[in-house]
Amino acid sequence: MPSLSGNQWGLALVCLLLGLLSNQGIYAQDDTTTTSTISTTPAISTTESVHDTMACNVSTSMALDLEKFSGIWWEITRQPVGSIFCTKINVTVLDKSEDNVLIDTTYSNTIDYPYVNQTMNATLTVADKISSTEGYNFTYWNPPDYTPHTVFKVLDTDYSQYAVICGYTNATDNSTAFGMIIARDRTLAPTVLDTIESESSALYDNFFDGTMTLTTQGSTCYSGADPSTTSTVLYAIFAIVIYLYTK
Ligand SMILES: *[C@@H]1O[C@H](CO)[C@@H](O)[C@H](O)[C@H]1NC(C)=O
Ligand SMILES: *[C@@H]1O[C@H](CO)[C@@H](O)[C@H](O)[C@H]1NC(C)=O
Ligand SMILES: *[C@@H]1O[C@H](CO)[C@@H](O)[C@H](O)[C@H]1NC(C)=O
Ligand SMILES: *[C@@H]1O[C@H](CO)[C@@H](O)[C@H](O)[C@H]1NC(C)=O
Ligand SMILES: *[C@@H]1O[C@H](CO)[C@@H](O)[C@H](O)[C@H]1NC(C)=O
Ligand SMILES: *[C@@H]1O[C@H](CO)[C@@H](O)[C@H](O)[C@H]1NC(C)=O
Ligand SMILES: *[C@@H]1O[C@H](CO)[C@@H](O)[C@H](O)[C@H]1NC(C)=O
Repeated sequence: MPSLSGNQWGLALVCLLLGLLSNQGIYAQDDTTTTSTISTTPAISTTESVHDTMACNVSTSMALDLEKFSGIWWEITRQPVGSIFCTKINVTVLDKSEDNVLIDTTYSNTIDYPYVNQTMNATLTVADKISSTEGYNFTYWNPPDYTPHTVFKVLDTDYSQYAVICGYTNATDNSTAFGMIIARDRTLAPTVLDTIESESSALYDNFFDGTMTLTTQGSTCYSGADPSTTSTVLYAIFAIVIYLYTK
């Protein structure tokens, strides 16, 4: 029997994980007992696009109503898959003109201990209800260091359910670009996510219709002693393997 090369082993592992995951269903990570009450009507109003999708570095960040955008968001999915999960984003508008937005982000980066939260924060200046072609370039204080400066652009939001965001660390290097969907609910109903993904992918790069990997947001984010730990951990491993193979 011929021996498998490193790549083939990796591929075999991906296939194995895919097989295991397909039994669980792709949305099985929602192991909380809350049921989503999000309506299933199409989330984004858009005209049919027959054009090429737009890259993040030439997209415009929409005019945001800061008061409405503030509050808690959960990261639902990111493309390419990131290395942090259980991500909660708290946007606060401060009553001043400079550095008027404070962002506190809580996340985990350790598969074995997803409930041991890390936090990072950032302050930036955002003009209320004014769009921006440059987007928002800021760095998080993530003790003991600052994260790399990253440009973020809000492409679309309805304020009450979802926001579609893209970003990059180098405007002329597309490989540093990413897309993410954040939501007011910790998990989005599959139909709603499908709609957002499909409409975003029709308009913008970095959103892959129906194939974006969900960010782990299950009950293991709160506590390690949960029977669903295995599936969530498996999911995270799967995400990382896919990331490595698509890098
Ligand atoms: C969000 O951040 C603000 C400012 O730090 C804080 O006052 C508020 O309690 C936070 N909200 C939640 C739900 O963590
Ligand atoms: C981690 O985050 C979750 C969700 O925000 C929160 O309920 C939990 O208390 C946090 N745990 C710690 C140790 O801060
Ligand atoms: C982050 O929070 C710490 C502690 O509250 C504060 O001292 C620091 O100024 C904040 N940094 C940013 C970039 O907001
Ligand atoms: C973001 O700002 C930093 C610091 O000013 C700068 O070095 C970097 O080039 C900017 N990034 C982008 C993508 O514009
Ligand atoms: C940004 O990307 C371009 C093109 O890949 C590269 O030439 C340049 O050195 C990069 N800039 C930085 C600051 O990494
Ligand atoms: C956008 O990125 C592409 C590479 O993906 C680059 O060729 C182009 O010059 C960039 N445009 C701007 C405005 O930075
Ligand atoms: C940028 O990268 C994404 C995937 O990472 C790809 O879908 C898109 O076509 C790329 N865009 C350009 C202008 O190269």
